[in-house]
Amino acid sequence: MTSFIEQRVAGKKAFITGAAGGLGAAMAHLLARHGAKVFLTDINEEAVYAVATAINAEHGKTVAWSAAQNVRDEERWQSALAEADSAMDGISVLVNNAGIGAIGGVEALQPKEWHRVMGVNVDAVYLGCKYALPLLRQHQPGSIINISSMAAYKIDPDYTVYNASKAAVASLSKSVALDCARQKMDVRCNSIHPSFIRTGIVEPFFEQLGEEEAIKKLTRGVPLRRLGEVDDVAYAVLYLASNESRYITAAEFRIDGGASAV
Ligand SMILES: NC(=O)c1ccc[n+]([C@@H]2O[C@H](COP(=O)([O-])OP(=O)(O)OC[C@H]3O[C@@H](n4cnc5c(N)ncnc54)[C@H](O)[C@@H]3O)[C@@H](O)[C@H]2O)c1
Repeated sequence: MTSFIEQRVAGKKAFITGAAGGLGAAMAHLLARHGAKVFLTDINEEAVYAVATAINAEHGKTVAWSAAQNVRDEERWQSALAEADSAMDGISVLVNNAGIGAIGGVEALQPKEWHRVMGVNVDAVYLGCKYALPLLRQHQPGSIINISSMAAYKIDPDYTVYNASKAAVASLSKSVALDCARQKMDVRCNSIHPSFIRTGIVEPFFEQLGEEEAIKKLTRGVPLRRLGEVDDVAYAVLYLASNESRYITAAEFRIDGGASAV
């Protein structure tokens, strides 16, 4: 059980997308352990409900809520945020975490795939920021954390749209940060850039290559010579959600074992 002194985000109210598993579920568990309320959404309603149920069981009280949300749906953004605002009595943290990938070089990639990935990875982040800001404004200090990727800097020609989408998230995060700052709004916005972590999104590598080859491929060029773990990212989210990071905005957090330096 986390002691009082370790409650780094006590009183914070966090809305997290794509929280049915992987990185989103890990962030939700960690933020709740450190005193936050969490409202979790995902396109996979059953799985996100299970995450919220597990968090509530751990705490013996309701600190987590869940709801179905397709982040591509603009109206659903507005209604889901309103539900979270009412359940938690406010929102002070937004984590735009839902994301998908697609494989294909420029010529092979179909326009439909391009729009699908850009819709989830970029349009949804814009919609989330746009519709959450009026609520965050009411609960300052606030923090927006957008999950980008090392793919924003390290280009693989087979990941055309994923690379482009994650670079767009880094840029969009800075626009949001500067827009809040010029309004003298105490809402910070930062992006997080993980390298490979074993979650649903990288599972196809393991299916195609087998365990050993997949690990070899995914850790190539990582100075720390291992895959990342979900908590490596969750701890960065905890820091950015807390007031400990109050002077940090428009920053890019590289959680990549040093990969982007080489
Ligand atoms: N795992 C990695 O190696 C890695 C590395 C860098 C960045 N990321 C990013 O981290 C974020 C989380 O991914 P993850 O690794 O936990 O993978 P994941 O596949 O386990 O989680 C992604 C979640 O997003 C949900 N989702 C997909 N489309 C959605 C939609 N339209 N609306 C709502 N929810 C939707 C999925 O159901 C899933 O629960 C993503 O943005 C991903 O791009 C992951």
